[in-house]
Amino acid sequence: MFAATRIETDSKPAFYDELVQQARGLLHDEHDRIANAANFAALVWHAVPDINWCGFYFFDGRELVVGPFQGKPACVRIALGRGVCGTAAQTRATQLVEDVNAFAGHIFCDGDSRSEVVVPLVDAQGALIGVWDVDSPLLARFDEDDRRGMEALCAVFVASLAA
Ligand code: SME
Repeated sequence: MFAATRIETDSKPAFYDELVQQARGLLHDEHDRIANAANFAALVWHAVPDINWCGFYFFDGRELVVGPFQGKPACVRIALGRGVCGTAAQTRATQLVEDVNAFAGHIFCDGDSRSEVVVPLVDAQGALIGVWDVDSPLLARFDEDDRRGMEALCAVFVASLAA
């Protein structure tokens, strides 16, 4: 059985290093996308403070469709280029949004969200898998350490899918 241990550190890089190790352990030996996405979302939800939503949107070949997540029920489909998630998917660049109200086209799924970070998920062949979205009720909750940390976590998830 996997047991997440509480991460006791004031250093964000050290926090994410530890969480990346926990994610590796959690996803080890399993390649199923839904299973790994569900466990990944649960791991992050319980480890990362001050967030109100975290989860996946997967690309179905046409648009983004919500996948496993933690938090309130969310918008189901997002067109490429729309909102923060659609922008991350289209540009394939992580979106770090300090104030969602200042992001043109932001899609409000949970009115409590004030800031967010969205990481695009791309496989080894360069194909778009989807995005990983983390929202916070705090303004400017995420910084460059969070961006790097979330990108490192997502790399563990993407690698776990390869059979
Ligand atoms: N914030 C996202 C929408 C998805 S939810 O927050 C779960 C966006 O604008 O892309």
